Amino acid sequence: MTTETKQTDGAGAATANDTLTVTDNRTGKQYEIPIEDETIRATELRKIKVHEIDQLAEESTYLEVAYLLVHGNLPSQKELDEWVHEITIHTFVHENVKEFMQGFRYDAHPMGILLASVGALSTFYPEAAAIKDEDIRYLQIIRLIAKMPTLAAFSYRHNRGMPYVYPDNDLSYPGNFLSMIYKVAELKYEPDPRLERALDILFILHADHEQNCSTSAVRSVGSSQVDPYSAVAAGVAALYGPLHGGANEQVLKMLRRIETKENIPDFIKGVKQGDEKLMGFGHRVYKNYDPRAKIIRKHAYEVFEVTGTNPLLDIAIDLEKIALEDDYFIDRKLYPNVDFYSGIIYEALGMPVEMFPVLFAIGRTSGWIAQWLEMIDDKEQKIARPRQIYTGERGREYVPVGERS
Ligand code: CMC
Repeated sequence: MTTETKQTDGAGAATANDTLTVTDNRTGKQYEIPIEDETIRATELRKIKVHEIDQLAEESTYLEVAYLLVHGNLPSQKELDEWVHEITIHTFVHENVKEFMQGFRYDAHPMGILLASVGALSTFYPEAAAIKDEDIRYLQIIRLIAKMPTLAAFSYRHNRGMPYVYPDNDLSYPGNFLSMIYKVAELKYEPDPRLERALDILFILHADHEQNCSTSAVRSVGSSQVDPYSAVAAGVAALYGPLHGGANEQVLKMLRRIETKENIPDFIKGVKQGDEKLMGFGHRVYKNYDPRAKIIRKHAYEVFEVTGTNPLLDIAIDLEKIALEDDYFIDRKLYPNVDFYSGIIYEALGMPVEMFPVLFAIGRTSGWIAQWLEMIDDKEQKIARPRQIYTGERGREYVPVGERS
């Protein structure tokens, strides 16, 4: 049995006995959490976790993972076939969706279009408001997973001034997405299986990640019992923010600025002096090598076999090596996170940076839905209304404005 402790200092600091001990019965591990201001910090509970994404990324497909998230277990072959079939036959969107998307400015950000169009789906499926009806609810889940790539691809094509490409239901989930993005004049788009697989893995790696900003937005909005399209639109909105869906773009900018391997030592020196951060390094939860980064790094090579090498990958690999051997990063437990390599792969796949959060949103949809579902089924769930700990002054009298100093 191991024990993790946290010391705090300053006002409201925990003394030796001001702690709460929590035991994770799955692992037997104990966690000692400081009590401050008569409460504990929710973020302290983040330490309690078990993660095994590697196997899913290596062995399964995104749709299997989506099934796992929604149903709580991996599907049998028959269940998987039905699930994939259902999703495949719901990939089309109503023609009016296409028409209103055309009303966006010619250069509209694809994430803004996605955000609006997911929310708008609630008006196309008003029955979705019946969130307690299991059959109706299930259909909306299928629709959301099925239509998200279509909306995402249409938003990309709009931004590029290209005609929208309808879904090709002969193709796999990622293959169809690539077709809707890249098909031009050919009768049938045939995705390279290596690119298809790389994209599928990226979707798997982004499928769910606990109570991140967008997921808690989905839960918070969904707790009002609104339909799932509106709740998921809140998630897309949260993901639109640069602090959430945008770190991989910052990594690309950083690598471009470094430009050559020879400039890495100077760059690292600047980071150590506090001039800037090494983007794509460090994580609020992982204080070790983010397992997702390891998987993406491996698949980056496969993508480059198809697309040709990208000098940014070589800089990234050298930068990682140098940082991992440097005491500054070792002492602070700073390792590559999922964003260190994902932007490089997206770029190699031909995606512009505006599409990075859109791709993230496609993968995260199954996680948002699973979390939403868990919340809807939770009998104790009430409308979100976080409690606030008031630490300001109390019992003050109202002073008329003219008498205030
Ligand atoms: N480069 C240089 N120094 C860093 C970095 C970094 N990327 N990250 C943390 N530090 C330093 C920080 O300055 C601090 O140093 P000191 O103790 O001397 O003051 C120490 O490490 C601890 O930092 P922290 O701010 O307590 O770490 P955190 O866990 O609160 O922050 C983070 C996590 C992800 C916000 C941060 O590491 C960061 O800004 N990284 C760069 C941005 C990035 O890659 N974001 C993507 C996150 S993964 C996306 C996802 O999974 O959803």
